[in-house]
Amino acid sequence: MRRTIATAESILRSVRTPATRQNCQFPRLHNGISRKSATSSTSFITQIAVLAGGALIGAYASSFFNNGKKNAKAAPGSTTSLENMPIARYNLTESNLRGAQEELTSLLTSERVTDDLGTRIAHSSTEWSPAPNGDLDRPTLVVYPLTTEDVSGIAKICHKRRIPMIAFSGGTSLEGTLAMTTQGGVCIDFSRMNKVLALHKADLDVVVQPGVGYEDLNSQLAKEGLFFPPDPGPGAQIGGMISQGCSGTNAYRYGTMKDWVLGLTIVLADGSVVKTRHRPRKSSAGYNLTQLIVASEGTLGLVTEASLKLTGKPEVEKVAVASFPTTHKAVETVLKIVQNDLPVAAIELLDDVTMGAVNKAGYCDKEYPEIPTLFFKFSGPENVIKEQIKKVTEFAKQSACKSFEFSKTADQAASLWQARKTALWSLLAIKEKPEDNFLSADVCVPISQMADIIEETHTKLEESGLVGSCLGHVGDGNFHTTVLYGEHDKKKARELIKWVQKRGIEMDGTISGEHGIGLENRDMLCNELGMGYIDAMRHVKLALDPLCLLNPDKIFQLKFEIER
Ligand SMILES: Cc1cc2nc3c(=O)[nH]c(=O)nc-3n(C[C@H](O)[C@H](O)[C@H](O)COP(=O)(O)OP(=O)(O)OC[C@H]3O[C@@H](n4cnc5c(N)ncnc54)[C@H](O)[C@@H]3O)c2cc1C
Ligand SMILES: *[C@@H]1O[C@H](CO)[C@@H](O)[C@H](O)[C@H]1NC(C)=O
Ligand SMILES: *[C@@H]1O[C@H](CO)[C@@H](O)[C@H](O)[C@H]1NC(C)=O
Repeated sequence: MRRTIATAESILRSVRTPATRQNCQFPRLHNGISRKSATSSTSFITQIAVLAGGALIGAYASSFFNNGKKNAKAAPGSTTSLENMPIARYNLTESNLRGAQEELTSLLTSERVTDDLGTRIAHSSTEWSPAPNGDLDRPTLVVYPLTTEDVSGIAKICHKRRIPMIAFSGGTSLEGTLAMTTQGGVCIDFSRMNKVLALHKADLDVVVQPGVGYEDLNSQLAKEGLFFPPDPGPGAQIGGMISQGCSGTNAYRYGTMKDWVLGLTIVLADGSVVKTRHRPRKSSAGYNLTQLIVASEGTLGLVTEASLKLTGKPEVEKVAVASFPTTHKAVETVLKIVQNDLPVAAIELLDDVTMGAVNKAGYCDKEYPEIPTLFFKFSGPENVIKEQIKKVTEFAKQSACKSFEFSKTADQAASLWQARKTALWSLLAIKEKPEDNFLSADVCVPISQMADIIEETHTKLEESGLVGSCLGHVGDGNFHTTVLYGEHDKKKARELIKWVQKRGIEMDGTISGEHGIGLENRDMLCNELGMGYIDAMRHVKLALDPLCLLNPDKIFQLKFEIER
């Protein structure tokens, strides 16, 4: 009896303490890529099954509560641990893939189904988000739907044949979200679903297909005096923006993607079509599946239509650039702005290394001082902006600001802002060798902790001797640490990124403010949320996608075997 209590207690304890080292140890699964490793993974799994009677913790508890009676079946729980996952079995045999290609071709015509090698590689791996196994992590086929019915048809074919699917919109995401680690499957490219379906000007909303780019959308909306604020990487499209729960430079003033989605049309893994909501501004009609899909990284459903909120286009937009002797001084200015609740449109920090990269890469038509720099956007009626600029200039002066430059015209504003928008590409352009790699962290902390964590990160970067920088959306407490490194420094670079992430968690922050978890951050997620949270997400995944066909292996691990 004493043992029973001890067991129950230890279960409770493991639920209560989210971030202990022990419960974040991941079993290293060798998911079966070939027939051979598939067999070894089965025997590993069988071992666990024998040991645990099918449900590890549940079986322990129930066997004790049943006075050790064997074979007592545990009641189904509310979470699913990795050990208790049913094994997803993918059929990537030549004949199955050929069969799928034929069916997809008769659904979409041959012009919208391709197995071209270059296209397949470009759909799984980019310089800013490489796939772990390089060109091997690519889809077998890339397909181009035009309608929700097309997408539903594609899902039905893949579901019947047990073929994994990954959605693709702008391809600008980070963290390996697009890598097809099953080394085969179907990539669904939404670029031809790029229509604005309806603009409801009086209601301030718009209905779009997922392949609409936010930049295109905004240039269409501008003619109507309207504006859609989320602004992630140049080239991103609505489908990917919803799935990544993106934000961008406007989030300080306008919030993130989740705040701008009213309702979605979703195709589920088996091809069922679900509309999460119409266009009302509020609703308490059942679970919020819209919110569940936002930031789910394409693992729960395929977005085929979205109703988005809009706002009025600001009358005037101005950009200011201010440089500071130290990062600390720059962040001090940001703190004052945030604490005084000044509704500046955007506050972005680029450190000295990033400013050096901006000059060197040459995406901008001017030279900047290579010291920590804040980029501000002000928007609204002229008189309001004037007042804001006055206050910000004051704060900046108090923090020993070295120079403060304003845009006078719209062209100048765009030109100044260009330095911020191309900062990531500028950093990639200063790689010592073309084959060097790039890692980044996307930590977001409570604003009062920001100066400290950025300063500590700079010290760590210096100690490591690696080329790296801090930049980002400091108005939200969100900053990106980037590291450039040669293969020989891989371990050092990874350790540095992990260090920043752990420090962010210690400060009550998150490891991902906007880029998501993908493959790169999967293990660290447990340190932030605890294994119980991850097991609950796995349970939700299985409820909506029981065969684990949608973007498998992302956010958390799954168990799968592949027949080839
Ligand atoms: C230079 C640069 C700057 C960036 N700056 C920012 C920034 O400031 N803020 C920010 O948040 N991000 C930023 N990013 C990251 C990136 O732009 C965002 O994550 C963006 O939301 C991705 O959109 P996408 O259309 O490119 O998505 P993709 O890369 O095509 O896809 C992203 C994910 O969504 C899934 N997906 C795509 N379409 C669908 C669909 N129709 N249904 C279901 N799932 C789908 C994919 O499977 C994938 O998992 C930046 C990237 C770059 C390269
Ligand atoms: C895989 O697909 C092929 C072709 O459709 C089929 O003959 C085979 O039985 C499938 N394998 C399994 C395990 O279902
Ligand atoms: C549901 O989620 C969406 C997306 O985050 C949000 O815009 C909406 O307000 C939420 N609805 C409710 C009823 O909470």
